[in-house]
Amino acid sequence: MSEKKTVKVGIIGCGAIGTLIAQAIEKKIVKCEELILYDYIQKKAKDLKNSIDFPVTIAENLNKMLNLKPTIIVEAASQKAVKDYIKPITSKGIKLIVMSSGALIGSNYQTERIYVPSGAIGGLDAISSAALTKISKVVLTTIFEGNAEKAATQFPRSMNVASTLSFIVKPAKVHVRLISDPTIKRNTHEIKVEWQYGEMYFCFSNDPHPENPKTSALAAWSAIQLLKTLIKNQ
Ligand SMILES: NC(=O)c1ccc[n+]([C@@H]2O[C@H](COP(=O)([O-])OP(=O)(O)OC[C@H]3O[C@@H](n4cnc5c(N)ncnc54)[C@H](O)[C@@H]3O)[C@@H](O)[C@H]2O)c1
Repeated sequence: MSEKKTVKVGIIGCGAIGTLIAQAIEKKIVKCEELILYDYIQKKAKDLKNSIDFPVTIAENLNKMLNLKPTIIVEAASQKAVKDYIKPITSKGIKLIVMSSGALIGSNYQTERIYVPSGAIGGLDAISSAALTKISKVVLTTIFEGNAEKAATQFPRSMNVASTLSFIVKPAKVHVRLISDPTIKRNTHEIKVEWQYGEMYFCFSNDPHPENPKTSALAAWSAIQLLKTLIKNQ
C-alpha cells in the first residue's frame, strides 16, 4: 500500500489573497498537514498566523521557507516577488502557483512547475479550445471606478488578467482597453473572442475584496481551486 504523503503548503504574501487561502486551509476546503507563511512585512504573517486555528510555521525569508520543504507554494505577493523567487523555488522541484501573472509576460521560464490560476476571470477552457484552431481577435475591457490617477495604479493589477489571457490565446494578441466609470461598484472584466467557428463573450463583475478593493475574491478562490486539484493529483 502506498504511504500518504505529507502535504505542506507555503504562502508568500499574507494580504487579501494569502489570507483567504489560509482561511480555506483552516476550514479544510484545502486539505494539507502544514502551512508555512512568508511576508516581507513579518507582522502580516504573524497576524495571519494568530487569526487562524491551524498549525502555522512562519518563515523569515524565502530560503527558510524552502528549507522547510513545502510541496507547493502560492505566490500572492507582487510581480517583483515572482521575478525574484521563481527560480529558487522551481529549481528545488517545488510547484509554484503564480497570482501576479503579469510578471510572466515576455519571460521564458522553461518549467512545468509553474501554474497560473484563472484569477479574476474565467472561461479559459473554452478560449483555449478555440486557440487550437484560429483566434482572430481578443479584446479585454476592464471597467473600474475612478479617474486617470487611479487608472495608473490599477494598470499593473489589470495586467495580471491580460497576461493570463495572453498565455491562453497565443499566438493571437490581446487588445486591452481600460475604462473608468464613476458609477461602477464592481471590478468588471469583459472579454470578446472572435475565432474560426464563432464568437465568445464573457463578463465578470466581481465584488472588490474588503481588505483590498483592487483585488477580486474570485482571484483567491481560483487559486484555492487550483491548489485543491494539485494536492489531489500529488
Ligand atoms: N491573477 C489575477 O487575476 C489577480 C487578481 C488579483 C490580484 N492579483 C495579484 O496577486 C497579488 C496579491 O494580491 P493581494 O490582493 O493579496 O495583495 P495585497 O497587497 O493585499 O497583499 C500582498 C502581500 O504580499 C506582501 N509582499 C509583497 N511583496 C513581497 C515580497 N517580495 N516578498 C514577500 N512578501 C511580499 C505584502 O507585504 C502584502 O502583505 C498581487 O500582485 C496582485 O496584483 C492577481
